[in-house]
Amino acid sequence: MRTNIVHEGADELSYEIRGIVRIAERLRDFGVDISWENIGDPVAKGEGIAGWIKEIVSDVIRDDRSFGYSPTKGLPETRAFIAEHRSAETGVRLDAEDILFFNGLGDAISNVYTYLRRSARVIGPSPAYPTHSSAEAAHAGSPHITYALDPGNGWLPDVDDIRNKVRYNPNIAGILIINPDNPTGMVYPKAVLAEIVSIAREYGVFVVSDETYAKLTYGTEPFVPIAEMVGDDVPAIAMRGLSKEVPWPGSRCGWIEVYNKDRDAAFARYVRTLVDAKMLEVCSTTLPQRALPSILGDGRYGGLLRKRNDDYRRRADIAHEAFSGIPGVLAPRPDGAFYYSVVFDESALPSGGRLPIGSPEARQFIEKEVSGAPADKRFAYYLMASTGICVVPLSGFNTDLPGFRMTLLEPDEMRFRDIVGRIADAIRAYAGSGDGE
Ligand SMILES: Cc1ncc(COP(=O)(O)O)c(C=O)c1O
Repeated sequence: MRTNIVHEGADELSYEIRGIVRIAERLRDFGVDISWENIGDPVAKGEGIAGWIKEIVSDVIRDDRSFGYSPTKGLPETRAFIAEHRSAETGVRLDAEDILFFNGLGDAISNVYTYLRRSARVIGPSPAYPTHSSAEAAHAGSPHITYALDPGNGWLPDVDDIRNKVRYNPNIAGILIINPDNPTGMVYPKAVLAEIVSIAREYGVFVVSDETYAKLTYGTEPFVPIAEMVGDDVPAIAMRGLSKEVPWPGSRCGWIEVYNKDRDAAFARYVRTLVDAKMLEVCSTTLPQRALPSILGDGRYGGLLRKRNDDYRRRADIAHEAFSGIPGVLAPRPDGAFYYSVVFDESALPSGGRLPIGSPEARQFIEKEVSGAPADKRFAYYLMASTGICVVPLSGFNTDLPGFRMTLLEPDEMRFRDIVGRIADAIRAYAGSGDGE
């Protein structure tokens, strides 16, 4: 090429949650039976879709209007439904005009960072859901700026770390939280949210709160929407979607809710850019927007969420029991979302650690793949080749903490118990296997 066509942020794009699938598929070719515990898709894991939801979608599909474009911001009646419900839920007025639909939150995340001024940065958690950290880093052409979540303190954020980084880096224009969090399952306590909002207020930055798992909580910490915390002055964006809640990830339907837009002229202009950019794409998916009010407004919806949360709570307890007490392992019990993250210290990840692998081809393949890999990736690859269990190394979540993330989505409780039991056995066996390589 006579001119360099590679984007400055090209090296920042990584998504280990799906990246590991390449390894799993090769292992499958060698006869390893894979248990997919890597991707947060309840439907793929066999969580059945309620009959009444299918009926609503069938009715919607019989309406020709579901096949057309929708207005750029989203269907007015759907935005009105969301505005009314959210306002009632939070006690804070949300205007339907301050809602903007996207093709899933993946699309929203990409646009939110792409259309920020190049030098403006959004600080986010570490570990982090990689779509946020990668998109933010790619927008800036340099690594994502992070604050630490502490596994030794229930994965709570280090608020002093946030305050110092915001204070000393004038390029930081926004603070991202993911609440409930992916990958840790932590739910932000109200007091911590208040501190984060006070930092945003003091330094004139906005808050992005990814609340895609808002309705999926089952621990002691109640979920508090950012809308309730920002008062009438701190500009904020809340992100919501259908993917995890209904669950309907294939709908590609998510939206942002904007608070205090007009309290800052630059923020208002930035939000207008997001709408203008969506206008160039025309609009987002119409069909799920048509179904949304009937699904979320149905009397059976609350019961469905309660049942799902009960299931996740039980599985979180089972996993917590299996992982607690293993030497060299920190495994705080999640309060929300449907993930479990486990962190290792060096004693659990000896150099040259191994697990027995039945198939000689699989062994040969994995030995090549782990060469030069981070310590937790090496463990995850051996775990997969040895047991067939596919988890995501924590190093895939923009963190130096070695560990892994698994989902709590396996619907068969016996099978779930077996999976966590085999992971726990593998952690112990791996810790005792180092050869000082
Ligand atoms: C925290 C978080 N935000 C956003 C997304 C993207 O969701 P979707 O694009 O399906 O709406 C995910 C998906 O796993 C997620 O975990």
